[in-house]
Amino acid sequence: MTVEFLTLHSRHSTLVLECPAQEAPLWRYWGPRLPNHSTPGTDLRGTRPLPSFMLDLDQPLTVVPTFGVGWFGQSALLAHRAGLDFAQAITQCEVEWTTPGSAVVLHLTDAIAQLRFEVSLALDVDTDVLTLQTCLTNLGDKELDVQWLAAGTLPLPGDAATVRSYAGQHNHEFLLQTDTLGRSQWRRENRRGHTSHDCFPGAVVTTPGSTEHSGLVFGAHLAWSGNHQQTIEWLHDGQYQWQMGEWLAPGEGRLAPGNSLHTPEIIATCSTQGLNGLAANFHAALRARMAWPGGQMRPRPVHLNTWEAFYMDLVPGDVMALADAAAKVGVERFVLDDGWFKNRHHDRAGLGDWWPDAVKFPQGLGPLVHHVNALGMEFGLWVEPEMVNPDSDLFRNHPGWALQIAGRPLITARNQLVLDISRPEAADYLFGKIDALLAAHPIRYLKWDHNRDLTTAALAGGLGGAAYRAQVHAVYALLARLRAAHPEVEIESCSGGGGRIDFGVLRYTHRVWTSDCIDAMSRVQIQHGFGQFFPPEILGSHIGTAPAHTTGRSQSLAFRAAVAMTGHLGVELDVRHLDESTSSALSTWIACYKKYRDQIHHGRVWRGEAADGLVWQAHGDADDLLLFVYRCQPTNHRYTPPLRLPMLDTSARYQVEQVVAIAGEGAVQSPAPFFTTLQNGGVALDGAWLAQAGLPLPRATAETCFIVRLQIIRT
Ligand code: GLA
Repeated sequence: MTVEFLTLHSRHSTLVLECPAQEAPLWRYWGPRLPNHSTPGTDLRGTRPLPSFMLDLDQPLTVVPTFGVGWFGQSALLAHRAGLDFAQAITQCEVEWTTPGSAVVLHLTDAIAQLRFEVSLALDVDTDVLTLQTCLTNLGDKELDVQWLAAGTLPLPGDAATVRSYAGQHNHEFLLQTDTLGRSQWRRENRRGHTSHDCFPGAVVTTPGSTEHSGLVFGAHLAWSGNHQQTIEWLHDGQYQWQMGEWLAPGEGRLAPGNSLHTPEIIATCSTQGLNGLAANFHAALRARMAWPGGQMRPRPVHLNTWEAFYMDLVPGDVMALADAAAKVGVERFVLDDGWFKNRHHDRAGLGDWWPDAVKFPQGLGPLVHHVNALGMEFGLWVEPEMVNPDSDLFRNHPGWALQIAGRPLITARNQLVLDISRPEAADYLFGKIDALLAAHPIRYLKWDHNRDLTTAALAGGLGGAAYRAQVHAVYALLARLRAAHPEVEIESCSGGGGRIDFGVLRYTHRVWTSDCIDAMSRVQIQHGFGQFFPPEILGSHIGTAPAHTTGRSQSLAFRAAVAMTGHLGVELDVRHLDESTSSALSTWIACYKKYRDQIHHGRVWRGEAADGLVWQAHGDADDLLLFVYRCQPTNHRYTPPLRLPMLDTSARYQVEQVVAIAGEGAVQSPAPFFTTLQNGGVALDGAWLAQAGLPLPRATAETCFIVRLQIIRT
């Protein structure tokens, strides 16, 4: 019997499907690159003797596993038509290559349940990233009610060992959660209506022996800013299936005859280079998707954000004075945060009334924008378009625009409600107000916030159905409309810090506010988790004040700066009141960021943890790396062990130089001659030695950072 196989190759990975006639294609392989002409050789069923107490037709994992074929695992579709057609089965498969060898669309029909699936799989040759997406069309003449439609189903090998996902909360995003895989289903769901702080839509699966730098690992992320669900389930052939998709509220997946449901994309990848190999693939994939003004990323300008300096107590004279002080220390973009619009004196009023408060800004924002521009800085503005306070003109005029369930109380959070922006009038209103601000002033940046979870979110205007999904599509549409009208404006995705960080919103935005927590110690961990999926140039990271407003902990300016400068740097403190030496130290750190930002924001990032309380990351490429070693805990070793740098070229010699004095209070405890040389021109060291034996580290106090540059010596 001839069996048809579909093979997709990228540089380092391969995907193989088997296409039996009149069925959904069977998963044969997703893993490290196979040679070009390598095939399974024979059909899968032919290799699997049937165990006892089994159906007579063996049913392996397919790209769309469904109940109707005798599949006992989780189905990729849960749907029915008034109780009928609940068990679906593909009866026909047509294969359409959109890019031969790397992108294919599978047109799968269920002639009995009257459904069509279009499953798109594209394996990017350069990044090894597989983009997977499903579209379901109701071909029947009655409504189909979809409860679950997987955006995709991926196979994982039977020796998959752990799943690393990210939990968290406001002020503590990207909290690593490691679970052991076994026969119980692993499942995470988010029903908060935005990406959420506490359930990142993605995970990493490890295999035994994999590390940060080596071994086989798999990763997947749902490019979606709303509710989501993912499961990893053990299968009877010893492998796992991984499904990911939108979590649909009851009624959200109702499909009228002829209508289609499009899932978000899954961005998935595997690597034999451990967690850092995976991170490199995700970073490259995101970079390829970003839509920068002008088509290309400009060097990321240093921000000053006014929030922690003033909160909502904005007095134009003070704001201008802050701008003066900001310009002096080297800030390049000044962002006016919350508190500028009508009646916004506290968080109980104003959201929705997007024009300058006449008491605070009697002449509007013009004089301030002009002042900021005259200082050589760009101007940015905070908005929270999807929200409305009951105490606002907007709500008084249009109480029906808020998401709500008729007859039930309005549930506020931070005293605010959510607007149903899928209503064209509401979206037009917001577009009109923001467009007017952008047209009136040279505003080059919007910090777009979203400060609550969604609940009782029913479509406004008496429609009554769940609005979560419509809301996400509507915010994407509003962002796209504003971007089209003002292509020069960059947008930051903020949601009480990091509540809306995903590849979906990043199609329209250029930076994320990673967390409202700017405590540098917390940030080391938050940014470490973030870096698994996202590249550093979009990571909003600010130098805050001490003690940190959210934790009460204090760290030295040098440590705060050394942590913040590995992302898109900003300042979030009242620089007007810094003493001479602090202000000069801040300017020096900002200058240091400017000097190295190209290297920090391009190339790869290697991240690692070492014994004895060390977290490190290196930016650049194996030829030229900037290495940050954070000592988070006091050492418990008499002698600090060297740090192995496995990414270095083992056939090269490196010039290793300490580019900044060790950053932090107390700093080096007992200097040794090697470190003096390191600071004065540097030392030539062997790449293989550094990779295997390691770089000597200074004996330093906790909450310090050791920053060195390693450059290949060309002879
Ligand atoms: C959110 C953001 C903060 C700030 C406030 C303003 O919490 O994350 O950075 O903008 O809103 O209300």
